[in-house]
Amino acid sequence: MNKLLSVQDVQDRFVERYRHVESDLVRDIERCVCGCDYGASSWTTVDEIQLIIALLGLNEDKYMLELGAGTGWPGLKLAEQTACQALLTDLPLDGLEIAHRRAATDGLDEKVAVASASGSLLPFPTASFDAVFHSDVLCCLPEKKEVLEECRRCVAPGGCMVFPVIFPTTNLSAEDQQLVLDGGPPFGEIEQSYPDMLAQTGWEMTKQIDLTDQFTQSMALMDKKLTQYSGELDNLKGQEIAAEERCRRANAVRATVRGILRRELYRAIPA
Ligand SMILES: C[S@@+](CC[C@H](N)C(=O)[O-])C[C@H]1O[C@@H](n2cnc3c(N)ncnc32)[C@H](O)[C@@H]1O
Repeated sequence: MNKLLSVQDVQDRFVERYRHVESDLVRDIERCVCGCDYGASSWTTVDEIQLIIALLGLNEDKYMLELGAGTGWPGLKLAEQTACQALLTDLPLDGLEIAHRRAATDGLDEKVAVASASGSLLPFPTASFDAVFHSDVLCCLPEKKEVLEECRRCVAPGGCMVFPVIFPTTNLSAEDQQLVLDGGPPFGEIEQSYPDMLAQTGWEMTKQIDLTDQFTQSMALMDKKLTQYSGELDNLKGQEIAAEERCRRANAVRATVRGILRRELYRAIPA
């Protein structure tokens, strides 16, 4: 059974995860599940990249801010594909250091910078970015509306924000609520829908796309790979951490199969 995680627990879990993302095995699993090898901890797949680029309107004249960039997925890929200028931010530096190295390896160091920043207190001037992106970040933090407000403040007139996010369906039984806690993202539960939150934080939603089917497939594939390589992953990550991850993913598969966890992508412009 999962315990309720604190904000610090969640950060610690990401930092622990980033310790292993450059290993061959973890990269192979990531390639198999999401089609990339940047150390993804969100569920954005390589097949979703062109859609995100189109929705963000990225090109070499645009300046993009990514929140919760982790180890660089998908911000580095967006910068590589469009030649946009990108600022990748997150709380722990551990992931950003990996992203920074990868940017240099991929010849993106002129285009990409990294900075430690909280999504709910962005240290950037008002209206400084053309595009704002975050991938499954709002379901990893409690202060969702504060983050949406900060994104609104930092986006330039004529700019936009795009983000996928995971959330549970409403009116869940106690059993299903527990399954969401055990298998869903750490702060997945919401009191209001994302369209309502967008409307209340100064945004006009222009697109809502259901990505649940792809997410369900990715979860099932991840679960399969974690089981297939359980011995190797125990050795790499330690038995306790690897077993906890297997258990969480197995619960996530149960939740997606029951249709109680969804993943949607939103595009919004300043209202
Ligand atoms: C699901 S991961 C996504 C990482 C990466 N973008 C990817 O797609 O693989 C969520 C990220 O949000 C970050 N995060 C959590 N709370 C945050 C906050 N308050 N401000 C900024 N980033 C935060 C975490 O550190 C983590 O790297």
